[in-house]
Amino acid sequence: MTAYVSVVIVGAVVMLTLLWILLIYLPGKGDKVTQGEPNGCQSAAVGSRLLHSFYQFFPCSLSPSLPGPLSLPLLGNMLELAHDHLPSHLTSLARRYGNIYRLKCGNTTMVVLNSGDIIREALVKKWSDFAGRPHSYTGDVVSGGGRSISLGDYSEEWRAHRRLAHNALQRCSQQSLHGVIQKQALHLRQVLLDYNGRAADLSEDFTVAASNVITTLAFGKEYEKSSAELQRLHGCLNEIVSLWGSPWISALDSFPLLRKLPNPPFSRLLKEVARRDDIIRTHLDEYKMQAPSKTSEEAIAITSALLNGLGKPQDTTQGVVLTDTHVHMATVDLLIGGTETTAAWLSWTVAFLLHRPEVQYRVYDELCSVLDGRYPQYSDRHRLPVLCAVISEVLRLRPVAPLAVPHRAIRDSSIAGYFIPKNTVIIPNLFGAHHDPAVWTDPYAFKPERFLEGGGASTRALLPFGGGARLCLGEAVAKMELFLFTAYLLRDFQFVPAESQTSLPDLTGVASVVLKAKAYTVIARPRPGP
Ligand code: HEM
Repeated sequence: MTAYVSVVIVGAVVMLTLLWILLIYLPGKGDKVTQGEPNGCQSAAVGSRLLHSFYQFFPCSLSPSLPGPLSLPLLGNMLELAHDHLPSHLTSLARRYGNIYRLKCGNTTMVVLNSGDIIREALVKKWSDFAGRPHSYTGDVVSGGGRSISLGDYSEEWRAHRRLAHNALQRCSQQSLHGVIQKQALHLRQVLLDYNGRAADLSEDFTVAASNVITTLAFGKEYEKSSAELQRLHGCLNEIVSLWGSPWISALDSFPLLRKLPNPPFSRLLKEVARRDDIIRTHLDEYKMQAPSKTSEEAIAITSALLNGLGKPQDTTQGVVLTDTHVHMATVDLLIGGTETTAAWLSWTVAFLLHRPEVQYRVYDELCSVLDGRYPQYSDRHRLPVLCAVISEVLRLRPVAPLAVPHRAIRDSSIAGYFIPKNTVIIPNLFGAHHDPAVWTDPYAFKPERFLEGGGASTRALLPFGGGARLCLGEAVAKMELFLFTAYLLRDFQFVPAESQTSLPDLTGVASVVLKAKAYTVIARPRPGP
């Protein structure tokens, strides 16, 4: 937080200096107004060079009536964005300003959406207006110049890229996903048995299990927790996600002049991105070289399907041709999108069940009576309502991508009756929507029973995977993973608090791009065999 405030102050000083230079040295600059600026700004600029220059940096609010907290000169609402638990803070602002409000950050205006209906209006109903991603200097650094699916802006090329990855993922999922997850769930079972009833932090084991699902699907490869290759891959992916979220680096997007100053975290980010690209390139090169001698598991890997789609004009009006870079970035997307999310969700599930042991028992009881000793198939989910209710409730309370990924208005539009100009950044606060008291009774309580028959809640009100054109690409993979991993774990183990622990796991969590549980230890006590 202190570091953040220092960055903001340095940034503010730099911006003031820049503004000063502009006012002095640019007397003849024309009256061009940034595209998407409202008319109010334009008229304010007329006749006053000072005001004009000011508004070029700080466009006024989108619509006079769009509510939001007071915006400080220069800083805008940056301090609001510096909160430790941003999703929760944005949710508390919604109680004050309503389910749609604006925040300013440098010269960017953001609109935060906090209810399911409003988020659905923007992302699903008006998907073609809000399918863009904001451009940013640092986003370009981590996404190969905006060429990833997750951070790439909406375009014909992006659509072809997403379609290629979606088809590849779907084809591999149909052929092998169920078996791949079952294998990893059994492997995870062995890892937990090997703890021999000792208390352990399982978060890394969950990460390895989730990552092995993706690396098996992607390249037909799986790793042990101790594998140096896996450590290298996770080390750099985690470092990239956490550095990219750090204020030292996001300040570069809002204050371009800071890019001229030395910035050790940014140098580290560049190094980690280069390392990531080396690792992925090596994998893809190996994969291509060994193509003729593939095992059947490897031959159906996503990489094959992605590579097969290259070089052919995709089915778009502009005949986009995808290249190796698209395969490279799609692989990065799947690894980043598919590892920490699923792993974080598993940690949250165990944490909540430690708080409510009777729910854990109810799931176990259901698994025993419905499955009659065997392991579950995904098709059993309709016969396991208590387990499914737990999955939905954890997704509701701790959507692991709590603010989704920012969207951008690609044309002038409206949300909830407010005018939204082109280029406005849209933040879907999924965490807020999942805690909306107008939709959920007792929204902060862990109550899976709300999703059981007669419990009053509907899974249709959940949005943990976003929606519309940017709906999570791995939704189907994730849903099968959450179901099978949880069913296997709760069938074979009783999770009990570590003896040495005086309190149960913290349920607030640490919010960054992914909302994770704070580290805790737990005992996985094997259930008696059938
Ligand atoms: C519990 C698990 C998961 C959750 C809750 C989750 C949630 C999300 C959310 C909220 C978004 C942003 C949607 C938006 O911008 O509106 C997203 C995007 C994405 N997710 Fe997931 N995700 C999960 C697992 C996965 C998995 C397993 C994969 C890969 C196999 C994956 C790949 C992606 C990709 C590539 C995107 C970017 C989509 C785009 O921009 O078009 N996710 N996810």
